[in-house]
Amino acid sequence: ADIPDDLFEAINDLKRELNAVVLAHYYQDPDIQDLADYLGDSLGLARKAAETNADVIVFAGVHFMAETAKILNPDKLVLLPDLNAGCSLADSCPPDAFAKFKAEHSDHIVISYINCTAEIKAMSDIICTSSNAVQIVKQIPEDRPIIFAPDRNLGRYVMEQTGRDLVLWQGSCIVHETFSEKKIVQLKIENPEAEIIAHPECEPPVLRHANYIGSTTALLKYAKTSSSQAFIVATEPGIIHQMEKNNPDKRFIPAPGTNNCNCNECPFMRLNTLEKLYLAMKNRQPEITMSEDVRVAALQPIQRMLEMSV
Ligand code: 13P
Ligand code: SF4
Repeated sequence: ADIPDDLFEAINDLKRELNAVVLAHYYQDPDIQDLADYLGDSLGLARKAAETNADVIVFAGVHFMAETAKILNPDKLVLLPDLNAGCSLADSCPPDAFAKFKAEHSDHIVISYINCTAEIKAMSDIICTSSNAVQIVKQIPEDRPIIFAPDRNLGRYVMEQTGRDLVLWQGSCIVHETFSEKKIVQLKIENPEAEIIAHPECEPPVLRHANYIGSTTALLKYAKTSSSQAFIVATEPGIIHQMEKNNPDKRFIPAPGTNNCNCNECPFMRLNTLEKLYLAMKNRQPEITMSEDVRVAALQPIQRMLEMSV
């Protein structure tokens, strides 16, 4: 295929031609972040998808995020530059096994983290993200038992914050489980002035050392307002692009993966490139589709989330 020399210009032309909006997550490559019309965490992206007037949504993120946009916009074309951009957390919760788990706890309310497939959303009562999980669980009457799926680390964090006992699905994110407590403590010894900031998908031994825990948007806000001049960042390092842009005088140190590999980078997020984004817009595919039954069932718990979070 013919790839234009200036992809930024070509993508901007296609945006106008298609009346398209590019929504991007903070873990995307810096180039993609720079050309996005809106950049956000999972909640911000779902909100933006719910209110856009564009005809086409180009989703620079992973499959479950684009799926959420499609659930909210059945009549719009939702493009994902690479359909293989999945999520280990969503994969860790297969619909058949989850249906059985749910049947074993039939009196429980099901709260699912947005990092799951449309099929899992369709089996859930309320969706949450890392920025509203605590707030949503607190709104459930004390006597109602709750299943929390699929992330056990966010689930444990919510249990601690709310004092509630949740039945956890044992899923996890390969990226956030790669951080080692030992390496982070070592980094802190080398950079004693740095604050440790972490995403709640990290494991408890890492979270224990964190000065601040939050969603990607919350971490960005904290980095701006904290008086610290240095931060050890325990989440996907794509976010450091915005941290550096917002705070040119502060220092951001990515927490390394266990083997000093690049495994702190999300391999699924990395599948999207500027070139694939251009081709998706030019070819109007790959497109997100799903059965109308699943879509309608998945819409309700997403709408509940939007109503329950301020
Ligand atoms: P948030 O941006 O909502 O914090 O989610 C992080 C994440 O892992 C997305 O895959
Ligand atoms: Fe999924 Fe983890 Fe990648 Fe987020 S960082 S998309 S939770 S695998």
